[in-house]
Amino acid sequence: MATLFDMSCKPVDGVLSADAIVAGAEGRDVLVTSINDTIDAALIARLPPTVKLIAQFGNGYDNIDIEAAYAAGLTVTNTPSVLTEDTADMAVMLMLALPRRLVEGAGVLPKTGEWPGWSPTWMLGRRLRGKALGIVGMGRIGTAVATRAKSFGLAIHYFSRHRRPPQVEEALGATYWDTLDEMVGEVDIVSLHTPLTRATQHILNAARLSRMRQDAWVVNVSRSELVDEAALIAGIESGHLSGAALDVFENRNGIDPRLLQLARDNRVVLTAHMASATLEARLEMGETVIVNIRAFIDGAQPPHRVLPEGRGKLARG
Ligand code: 8YV
Repeated sequence: MATLFDMSCKPVDGVLSADAIVAGAEGRDVLVTSINDTIDAALIARLPPTVKLIAQFGNGYDNIDIEAAYAAGLTVTNTPSVLTEDTADMAVMLMLALPRRLVEGAGVLPKTGEWPGWSPTWMLGRRLRGKALGIVGMGRIGTAVATRAKSFGLAIHYFSRHRRPPQVEEALGATYWDTLDEMVGEVDIVSLHTPLTRATQHILNAARLSRMRQDAWVVNVSRSELVDEAALIAGIESGHLSGAALDVFENRNGIDPRLLQLARDNRVVLTAHMASATLEARLEMGETVIVNIRAFIDGAQPPHRVLPEGRGKLARG
């Protein structure tokens, strides 16, 4: 970016205040944002008039008030596709980590320094093959997860805004559900791959969590707000659910200590927003940001423009 444009950036990683974002945008045409930057209507109203493009470094853009940006005449872009496969890998890794006790098992030798010896009941977990997976959101990432899950012998079920064409369902052996309430009661794993919007906030609410099968588990590599986290914790603590594998969690007032305790007790696998954290994905995300900016500056339609719901094609995945 520094080669192509007159660029300035924050000196260190971390979260900038609204004031710092507004000050940094002074005299600039483009604002490059990430999930750390809350670009709400109030901030959009304060942006200098030179700013015409908000180029998000990320697939999700729930940190940006897309409607307010659109109303203010700003273009918003994102970086879909390039992080699909890595995010799907992480979802499957988390899906396996819980029943196969990966975190607990990998912790034994570093902790004790010795191998207690094999026994028929050593580190008994549960088999993944043959279980039913319920995917919420069959966009790019959901489909990439389904492709992997099929080869692990999981039966694929899905709930999504848009039903996939019959040939896609056939190839994946996927069963479509038009109500999430019903699907959650029929699967062993619920994996979330829908973007966060007003409609999907707490899509996995207390009622749906309570409908889940005894011993089922939740995988979330999308956004914490998709799940009623307090209800999820209660469901695991009560023994109704076997656990959860989460790459995202509520963090507004710190991480819930009950969730941390469940992680210490190996009922929850907790990673910290690293699903797309590969060098390859981050480089390609950066390149996609540059392609979006270049096209916009050259007066063309940027390839990954996002629009408010109901205003045309929305990037999915
Ligand atoms: C990114 C993500 O790291 O792209 C997304 O939607 O959740 C992450 O993988 C993040 O968005 C960077 O802004």
